[in-house]
Amino acid sequence: MTARASCLRPVIAALPKGGYPVTAVELERVHGVGQVRMLHLNESPLAPSPRAIAAIAAGAGTVNRYPEAAGAKLAEALSQRTGVAVDCMMFGVGSDELLHFCCAATLDDGDGCVLPEPSFPRYKASTRLMGGVIQAAKLRADGANDPDALLAAIDDSTRLLFVCNPNNPSGGLLDAADLERLIAGVPDRVLLVLDEAYWEFGLAAGGIDTLPLLAKRQGPWVVLRTFSKAYALAGIRVGYALCSSPEIAGALAKFKNTFSVTNLAYEAALAALDDQDHLRQLVDGCREQLARLDAGLRALGLTPLPTAANFISADLQRPVAPVIEALKAGGILIRDWREAGYETFIRITAGTAEDTDAVLEALRRELTRNA
Ligand SMILES: Cc1ncc(COP(=O)(O)O)c(C=O)c1O
Repeated sequence: MTARASCLRPVIAALPKGGYPVTAVELERVHGVGQVRMLHLNESPLAPSPRAIAAIAAGAGTVNRYPEAAGAKLAEALSQRTGVAVDCMMFGVGSDELLHFCCAATLDDGDGCVLPEPSFPRYKASTRLMGGVIQAAKLRADGANDPDALLAAIDDSTRLLFVCNPNNPSGGLLDAADLERLIAGVPDRVLLVLDEAYWEFGLAAGGIDTLPLLAKRQGPWVVLRTFSKAYALAGIRVGYALCSSPEIAGALAKFKNTFSVTNLAYEAALAALDDQDHLRQLVDGCREQLARLDAGLRALGLTPLPTAANFISADLQRPVAPVIEALKAGGILIRDWREAGYETFIRITAGTAEDTDAVLEALRRELTRNA
């Protein structure tokens, strides 16, 4: 073994510097902007179910105790809804953490990870952190993952394959036939991970439940979902993995800090799950604003990508950094695609009706100013 000068693994220097997305507090401090429109993190603009809020309040007095590690009640409730056995399930501090565990459980130095590009940045970051090799497959023109490109990217080194459906940041959704082909084409020695962070929005947009298709697969799979998006619980941090077998769930569980997910999070998620009327209201409200954003962007001469998530993307056909900065100075946060080659794309999270009016007006001003 060769001696190295630094205590840090060499891969650390190769990773981009970690940074945090801008928050409302920071924006107010830097720009003195009073009202901030948070349209950059794909959060819900509205509060979670009152039942979830009540569950958090009710649990506040018990935080002197460590949480129940396994989240048994939530697992039972999800098992009833999905048909996935409790011992094939595990929870994480958001699905972000579970994505990382999928990389940690499968990738040794030099192992390949097939992933869509552009997509959620965590796939690449965690692959690199594990010493894995990124095997990127470009999106289809409609912004969905490209099943053929993903399958073609697999080679003998591949251990893991991510599908992001609907895809962040494009919003594209795969149909049943494409998903079936993709699921059937991934070799049994590869862990197939379907990141369904926007699943509830995808269903409302005509998407399918992938679990019956996955049940036919011999090889290992994981479906990742979250309470952060449609259930409006981003701040409490709880996501879940539905796995093909107890072996896969157990592998992910080896990376979990015992008490990482709090009781407040488990109880809030359970209460939110129980309030499907509230979920429907949030999803319907989001789709209403997406339709308005789509129409408004088209009125500005743009062609937004079709979206099945809670955000919408468009190519401004010009570098977006100055536009994003100008909107930020006015208290409106939207996001670029953070991927080389896509510097002209913006992503806007669906907010309230007022957010939609404000972001469309600000974009109109910027695009006509710089025309
Ligand atoms: C595609 C995708 N997966 C996973 C996540 C992680 O969400 P969370 O950790 O809040 O569950 C996000 C968050 O934006 C996402 O866009």
